[in-house]
Amino acid sequence: MGIVLGIESSCDETAAALVRADRTILVQRIASQDDEHRPYGGVVPEIAARAHVERVMPLVEATLADAGLGLADVDAIAATAGPGLIGGVMVGLVSAKALAMASGKPLIAVNHLEGHALSPRLADASLEFPYLLLLVSGGHCQLIVVEGVGRYRRLATTIDDALGEAFDKTAKILGLGYPGGPAVERMAATGDPAKVRLPRPLLGSAEPHFSFAGLKSAVLRAKDAGIHANADIAAAFQQAAIDCVIDRTSRAIAAAGRVNALVVAGGVAANTAMRTALDALAGASGLRFVAPPLALCTDNAAMIAWAGQERLALPGFSADPLYIAARPRWPLDPDAAPVRGAGVKA
Ligand code: KG4
Ligand code: ZN
Repeated sequence: MGIVLGIESSCDETAAALVRADRTILVQRIASQDDEHRPYGGVVPEIAARAHVERVMPLVEATLADAGLGLADVDAIAATAGPGLIGGVMVGLVSAKALAMASGKPLIAVNHLEGHALSPRLADASLEFPYLLLLVSGGHCQLIVVEGVGRYRRLATTIDDALGEAFDKTAKILGLGYPGGPAVERMAATGDPAKVRLPRPLLGSAEPHFSFAGLKSAVLRAKDAGIHANADIAAAFQQAAIDCVIDRTSRAIAAAGRVNALVVAGGVAANTAMRTALDALAGASGLRFVAPPLALCTDNAAMIAWAGQERLALPGFSADPLYIAARPRWPLDPDAAPVRGAGVKA
């Protein structure tokens, strides 16, 4: 049974994993850089790139050792080739190229977003194409019809901030530190969302796009007013974010055509309140709801190895050339029309 070694380094986690074609995750290891970035309240690209350099090869060696395997036992080497912080992406990709060259194994350059998009199929063998994917992470906020491996139809994106970014900025405003999403979720559980009124940008608008910049500014104003408890602000923020996500996703369900399931992936998919609300929406829409386990939602290398397995299984698979470049931007659906107001994020 084929084994793929996956390497992930697009943001602040260095990760390696070995995944078998039958979906068994033989080993997965993640080296977090939280301690390095915490003093700055967010990811510093230069620090991230240096940390990836120090960690990636020892991590790959430890991953292989854990499985009792050598490179010779691996069928392909898959690495994130973008989008992401370019220094980190280059470190992971160059390492994968070196391993591929030394071992003679095929290199598979994986789109990080494709890793997230296919991760639910690693967790759930019965999930068939097409499905509607809500991809919510620190850098992306999109609704995509996943029609097959490499076949993506984007229905919506954010016109300003990604949802994870809004969680992280809210955490910063409330002094909760980095990384922000889990801290906001914990604090929100102790607050009353009804005590702070916050806007729901784009609620009810015809196309299912997202906007979170106005919500973030409203959180800042609520904090500056000095009259609200932090827990109430966190709860109100999370509720507003969920209301937006549910409204936008229900529009997308109407626009998607026939799909087999509503699927959520990306770091924010680790948010339990969000998963519960999406589960209810799917139920009301007559759709199955699929969410990967938390460890597969935030950045990891098992999803990169799995995307490699999916590519390897395609008829006419061919390895990527060793000269393939790392890409800071790499949309899943290059044909999607640009969205008015959307600047650097796509
Ligand atoms: O997918 P991911 O690990 O990295 C990117 O590709 O961006 O997503 C990270 C994002 C961060 O913004 C983080 O705050 C958010 O996911 N996140 C959460 C939770 N866990 C992680 N947001 C809300 N609730 C959570 N429990
Ligand atoms: Zn990610």
